[in-house]
Amino acid sequence: MSHVLAAVAWPYANGPRHIGHVSGFGVPSDVFSRYMRMAGHRVLMVSGTDEHGTPIQVQADAEGLTPQQAVDKYNRMIVEDLHGLGLSYDLFTRTTTRNHYAVVQEVFSALDANGYIVSQIQMGALSPSTGRTLPDRYIEGTCPICGYTSARGDQCDNCGNQLDPIDLINPKSKINGETPEFRETEHLFLDLGAFADALNQWLDSREGWRPNVLRFSKNLVDDLRPRAITRDLEWGVPIPREGWDAKRFYVWFDAVIGYLSASIEWARRSGDPEAWRNWWQDPQGKAYYFMGKDNIVFHSLIWPAILFGYDGKGDKNGKPGEYGELALPTEVVSSEFLTMEGKKFSSSRKIVIYVRDFLERYDADALRYFIAVAGPESNDTDFTWSEFLRRNNDELVAGWGNLVNRSISMAAKNFGGVPQPGELTDEDRALLAFSKEAFPRVGDLIAAHKQKAAIGEAMRVVAEANKYLSDQAPWKLKEDKPRMGTVLYVALQVIDDCKTLLSPFLPHSSQKVHELLGGTGVFAPMPEIREVDDLDGGPSYPVLTGDYEFPAWEPVTLEPGKALTAPTPLFKKLEPSIVDEELARLTG
Ligand code: MF3
Ligand code: ZN
Repeated sequence: MSHVLAAVAWPYANGPRHIGHVSGFGVPSDVFSRYMRMAGHRVLMVSGTDEHGTPIQVQADAEGLTPQQAVDKYNRMIVEDLHGLGLSYDLFTRTTTRNHYAVVQEVFSALDANGYIVSQIQMGALSPSTGRTLPDRYIEGTCPICGYTSARGDQCDNCGNQLDPIDLINPKSKINGETPEFRETEHLFLDLGAFADALNQWLDSREGWRPNVLRFSKNLVDDLRPRAITRDLEWGVPIPREGWDAKRFYVWFDAVIGYLSASIEWARRSGDPEAWRNWWQDPQGKAYYFMGKDNIVFHSLIWPAILFGYDGKGDKNGKPGEYGELALPTEVVSSEFLTMEGKKFSSSRKIVIYVRDFLERYDADALRYFIAVAGPESNDTDFTWSEFLRRNNDELVAGWGNLVNRSISMAAKNFGGVPQPGELTDEDRALLAFSKEAFPRVGDLIAAHKQKAAIGEAMRVVAEANKYLSDQAPWKLKEDKPRMGTVLYVALQVIDDCKTLLSPFLPHSSQKVHELLGGTGVFAPMPEIREVDDLDGGPSYPVLTGDYEFPAWEPVTLEPGKALTAPTPLFKKLEPSIVDEELARLTG
């Protein structure tokens, strides 16, 4: 048993979530957390909406809202999206809480006290019409090196060179087309170079990371330069330094600190304000960070550097801040990208399917199943409606759903409940053993972030059970009721095992199977949305949380005699026509 922090990337509160957002790390982090709790670990799963920075400002402007109005709107929507998928956060909060502001400021102050914050004058781009800063990637112009006409302020996608916006020929704002003005501006920088040795040693000691994540991070570590952590913006976390009222922290600086502030918020709400220390200061504890590959650098280099600086462990040494020494990530678990019908997701080009729309027409577990078997775990993968239909109908409905439905209906009809088994044959014993032995196999694979292989093993038990039923053909045993009862008992026992094996992936249907087999109470806990008051006097907001009590990761012997009733189908079989309907929606 150990303390396990499941730190899940924070979605920007600039729109509802689409299935690409939730497939790389949303659902996988939930599968992991559910399993780890069942295996007896004390899991703390935290995240929230990322509510500062340019993405929010741009969205708010586009809708004629203030940034606060925009994040209030999308925070609520995102909480509902994640709730609909059954993601079992201990706390899903937001970055506009007073608690978060205070934690960010404390982390900054400790970095500053330890000498890791430096200030530098830069040339910054400004929009003449709004007076607002224009971030590098919102400026476009001609590349001074290769002449490509759509180079971005931060880099040229044609020749690959890193650029400074001021070097662009004929620079234009991507937001409104105007020519930016350049002015001198002072910013605070995190001196990343001072952590190169610490980061190198730390990365060298990492085990079990996905090779691409480690390789990518190691490639960057020797080239670390100071990185600006402030911006000329009015929307963001205030900088606790005199004369810096007009600037705010850069969104990425405040967002990664969210893992800590959310843990602290969770502890404060739990009644034991110090409880967060179990996940941040236990030498035996583990911390897993889940994200898409575009976030790797922030989690494998920048956040660890912030933690080293906070702990006083960079080149300039220092001493830990007022929370005491904080733990670094055990593993950065990064996924690849999901595309949609062969294209990149894009809300503006309507290549998108929002979680909310999906859940209006299909079950959460149908999506969770697709993500588990065909998601972008370690390769880019593609969501197509025809593949979704095939997986749903051929695997989920015809495999798992059919096993459950035919076994329970037959037992209900012929015995009115779980039959009493007679003597077991070799075939009976072999299937029961295969199913029991799947527990450590599936569990170890989930713990090692190999969820595709894990669900494959669980579905192999389902397939073996279906084969067993075809071979034993209990429907032909009307004349031999005792044997029929034994076969059905074996099938029901394996179904009960599979409901547990599949519950991290398919919690909604596992709960249903639990009830179909006569079980009572909660088997697969679900998160709830609670409206809470800000702990420090700010406005109230919705959080995702739950009082979870998970069953153990082990088979449970099914009791004969329990009453059973004929079930309704576990999963919806989908009509082939949905493919064309959905494709029409995409282009329509
Ligand atoms: N909002 C960022 C994105 O969607 C992710 C932030 S993760 C955090 O890419 F750790 F910084 F919070
Ligand atoms: Zn170029």
